[in-house]
Amino acid sequence: MTATLASCSLSGDKTVSGPWLDSSLPLEERVEAALGQMTLQEKVRVCYAKTKFMSPGVPRLGIPDVHYSDGPHGVRAEINPDDWGYAGWTTDSITAFPALTCLAATWNPWLANQYGAAVAEEAIARDKNVMLGPGVNIYRTPLNGRNFEYLGEDPCLAAQLATEYVKGMQANAVAACLKHYILNDQEEYRGHINVKVSERAFNEIYAAPFKAVVRDAELWSIMGSYNKYLGTHCSHNDTTLNQILKRDWGFDGMVVTDWGGCHNTDEAIFGGLDVEMGSYTNGLTSESAFGYDDYYLGSAYREKAERGEVPDSIINDKARRILRTLFRTTLAPERGQAAQATPEHFELARKIADEGIVLLKNDPFKGSKLLPLNADLYKSILVVGENATRSLCKGGGSSELKPRREVSPLEGLQQRFGKDKIRYAKGYVSGRPMYGHVDFIPPFTEDSLRAEAVAMAREADLVIYVGGLNKNHNQDCEGGDRLYYGLPFAQPKLIDELLQANPRMVIVLISGNAVEMPWVNRVPALVQSWYNGSAAGYALADILSGDVCPSGKTPFSYPTVLTDCPAHQHGTICYPGDSIDEEYLDDIFVGYRFHDLPQARKEAKAGFKLSPKTVRFPFGFGLSYTTFAYTQPVLFDHTLTPDGKGRVSGKVRVKNTGGMAGKETIQFYVGADRPSVERPVKELKGFIKLTLQPGEEKELTFIISAEDLMFWDETIHDWKFEPGKYRLYIGSSAADIKGEVSFTI
Ligand code: BGC
Repeated sequence: MTATLASCSLSGDKTVSGPWLDSSLPLEERVEAALGQMTLQEKVRVCYAKTKFMSPGVPRLGIPDVHYSDGPHGVRAEINPDDWGYAGWTTDSITAFPALTCLAATWNPWLANQYGAAVAEEAIARDKNVMLGPGVNIYRTPLNGRNFEYLGEDPCLAAQLATEYVKGMQANAVAACLKHYILNDQEEYRGHINVKVSERAFNEIYAAPFKAVVRDAELWSIMGSYNKYLGTHCSHNDTTLNQILKRDWGFDGMVVTDWGGCHNTDEAIFGGLDVEMGSYTNGLTSESAFGYDDYYLGSAYREKAERGEVPDSIINDKARRILRTLFRTTLAPERGQAAQATPEHFELARKIADEGIVLLKNDPFKGSKLLPLNADLYKSILVVGENATRSLCKGGGSSELKPRREVSPLEGLQQRFGKDKIRYAKGYVSGRPMYGHVDFIPPFTEDSLRAEAVAMAREADLVIYVGGLNKNHNQDCEGGDRLYYGLPFAQPKLIDELLQANPRMVIVLISGNAVEMPWVNRVPALVQSWYNGSAAGYALADILSGDVCPSGKTPFSYPTVLTDCPAHQHGTICYPGDSIDEEYLDDIFVGYRFHDLPQARKEAKAGFKLSPKTVRFPFGFGLSYTTFAYTQPVLFDHTLTPDGKGRVSGKVRVKNTGGMAGKETIQFYVGADRPSVERPVKELKGFIKLTLQPGEEKELTFIISAEDLMFWDETIHDWKFEPGKYRLYIGSSAADIKGEVSFTI
């Protein structure tokens, strides 16, 4: 079927007029004018779906429907109105932007803003006004199948990038629907697991990025998650939605369920939900005979409201929030331009990927480094690995995309280094891209493919291995977590044999998660790439060739073995839970907050012996082809007083001391010397990415406020600022601190 955009009526009935349609009026005036005209039935009807990805407006008043789409890496292909099948449009292919892990690895808020703005332009071209994303769930375990859709392990990094993404998107009058609020940090049991977490970890780690985006980006919509907190599903949870989000944080936009995340009419009415989507399906494939009016917020809500059992304040509040979203988007005074799969967006996708790819290792091999790759040295280069040719936009679940163009790594490398020079061996197979289960892969294929690749590696001058995870079930994919930390599809064996055959090898891992790397010491060069979308292959060639100097830094730590990760140290109740409850016993010590601790303290927490080095690659780490020197930071102003007024300011200089233009992300962490409660050694509070020409030096100033030094005090149920001695650490990664300065309040 081919559908054209004209078949969607978006702009409402043009013959209707009223002050709510006058876009020159202030937003709240328009909302009140419309609300004043709406019947009770209309106020209820806007609160639940009319198709899989639409909820109704008020046709009588010329107020159009809400049109949702996934999210977050581009606009998803059109879905059938009443089931999960793709509609088969020929006009819905788009730009696939790099996955959010890649965006996180750029540490570049400006790129995040461009990313959000560009996805909004594609959304407008596809007549969507609410994009489902970005996601800011925290990277707590490398087994989470959806980490690739999130922004890493640190709330400050996730908050700053998501804020800019949302600002860029909303500046074009498309609503970002931030997800999945809250504690949806794994896929296993996601529909019902009840997460128990300390008040401190809730506020300092898991809620922090959501709160920051609500406040700093003035967020317009948010998605309640599938799981439970305090025994109640998060799509209608009075505590997290009414009390925290709407009351404490002042959120004035609309709360949307995750698709099929609503379970109860009363909880939905009174628990802070505004729009119910996707009910009466298993969330994936099957449909039921129930119609939309059978939704929890459908007839059941209407009848209750008609009987006078729902206060007007609640009915009006829900309707107001939905109206606000429409007046901010489809009916906004101005919207961004419509642009779908344009060359500009392709270039932006390439730029984001260029800045997100991380160089993890580049040791000399027989006296010289393999990267940047000087192709003149080699007559034949062998590329091995399924990810060199596989479409990595397919699969993964709701973030699956239909790109108009997708340049594979093999294609990118062939174009950059010459087709004649490059040979290819698949090395392993993983089954076709699927969501929900995996095709059976006969083991003899593995053996024969491995033997072929190893034989070809012996003949090659250089091997570039492009493997990792993919977007199938139990890999980086919605609806299930990874089953183990190592590389799948017998890749460790393949890598082993390839290294024996030809140790002159560059390994490129494509994934959204850390993996176990027992082979790492034998590999001279290692690159972490991501699901990089439309321009993936070009970006990889940019980095390997040195056309672009690598500047990505990992947004998460790489535990050496799985039990070095704190979520995996306290039995199944801590991850993935006992299917009813899960207790985050790792508490606030997520990622580098754990790895930073002295070994004895880590082992005391874990209760057993850990690897001598619990991380292979630390948070914030990434190499460059150039080098940078930092001066010691100095403070020039300290007016911060125990009542939290004033600030501490200082400066530091960073110089490019190598021979190539490059970018460096300078990371600012703070830690308290003798806090009254146990605190991490240090926590990220800011960062800045600088571009420096060879020999160029730049000076940075930084400002620390009381907010940067606070912790959540469980005795007063609030943030607390404690006088005392603090340290500012300036680093190139969490484990590479270049300078430190202390101050006392
Ligand atoms: C996912 C959401 C997604 C929604 C709509 C759910 O299964 O958890 O992230 O936006 O489906 O596709």
